[in-house]
Amino acid sequence: EELTVIRKFEHIEHCLKRNVQAHVSNGFEDVHFVHMSLPEIDKDEIDLSVEFLGRKFDYPIFIAGMTGGTKGSQLAGKINKTLAKAAQELNIPMGVGSQRAMIRKPETWESYYVRDVAPDVFLVGNLGAPQFSETIPERYGIEEALKAVETIQADALAIHMNPLQESVQPEGDTQYRGVLNALAELKAEFPYPIIAKETGAGVSMEVAIKLESIGIDAIDVGGLGGTSWSGVEYYRAKDELGKDLALRFWDWGIKTAISVAEVRYATELPIIATGGMRDGIAMAKALAMGATFAGVALPLLKPAVKGDVEGVIKILRRYIEEIRNAMFLVGARNVEELRRVPIVVTGFTREWLEQRIDLPAYMRSRGI
Ligand code: FNR
Repeated sequence: EELTVIRKFEHIEHCLKRNVQAHVSNGFEDVHFVHMSLPEIDKDEIDLSVEFLGRKFDYPIFIAGMTGGTKGSQLAGKINKTLAKAAQELNIPMGVGSQRAMIRKPETWESYYVRDVAPDVFLVGNLGAPQFSETIPERYGIEEALKAVETIQADALAIHMNPLQESVQPEGDTQYRGVLNALAELKAEFPYPIIAKETGAGVSMEVAIKLESIGIDAIDVGGLGGTSWSGVEYYRAKDELGKDLALRFWDWGIKTAISVAEVRYATELPIIATGGMRDGIAMAKALAMGATFAGVALPLLKPAVKGDVEGVIKILRRYIEEIRNAMFLVGARNVEELRRVPIVVTGFTREWLEQRIDLPAYMRSRGI
């Protein structure tokens, strides 16, 4: 039981002190806007708002879930409250990290609770997919899902699919049998929206189609090219075999740009494009490719551990101004128009997509 808590500390520490990013890009350098010399709009009239799961948000940026459950030090609580204050100020959604610790130790609930500082924020709870596997006798069901959402007054639940990290860590949960079925059953009775999310290895169109078919409400593609959870486990590994395995899989997965295209092409689900999103031009490209939000985790961790709300907001405002500027230069007044501007896909991303989807058809229609 203590292990989960210690693990969380280690993860945050490695994410802060080491390079845990993928050695490969997230693919957006292969996606190009076509500069428009006559935008025929005023920069001031650009509207960055988006709608998602029945709510309206001022900006198309999502603070991806990172932490919770580290009772004692208050560290996780501080991180979540700092992120929540920034999200409240900007009217953007945010997630908390895995609530498994809270299910085991209900007294850690406060480290996930942000309603006192962020009464209006669209808040997303978080549980892991393998905990729902039929292989586990004490598997999660609707009771745990309701507890996760209602204890912290969240608006939706994210289920993280994380087989890469689980498979390269010694204590990983690698029971995934029956997860889809369990999620279908959960979705049938659960009164809150469910977001299926990856954590850095991307979602393929095959998985996205299955998730859509059981009624999942949205997908966070959590693609390759940002934080590598195999990378984090490399630093945590205790022996050579473990280090070798984690190093080998450091850059495993589907790049974020590719995953957005696959999921947009194959489903009608709203998309959060997370995974290595580090500037507003890449974010604007993700929106143009059909995502509703760009999601960010790692860059916000540093100011968040210091309780630096202004620091978090400063980073987000930089992204916002870059998105706005890119929209101006392609003549898009809003995100819907951005999905109709021409884009050009080159290189590895193009080679991949040509073998996977009808690329010209996708390029013509990138809205939901
Ligand atoms: C995460 N992420 C994550 N995801 C999740 O579903 N549950 C979790 O508990 C965590 N924990 C967590 C901790 C820390 C310190 C980081 C940096 C990230 C994954 C996160 O939501 C996101 O999908 C990935 O980090 C990719 O985005 P970035 O970091 O490349 O912007």
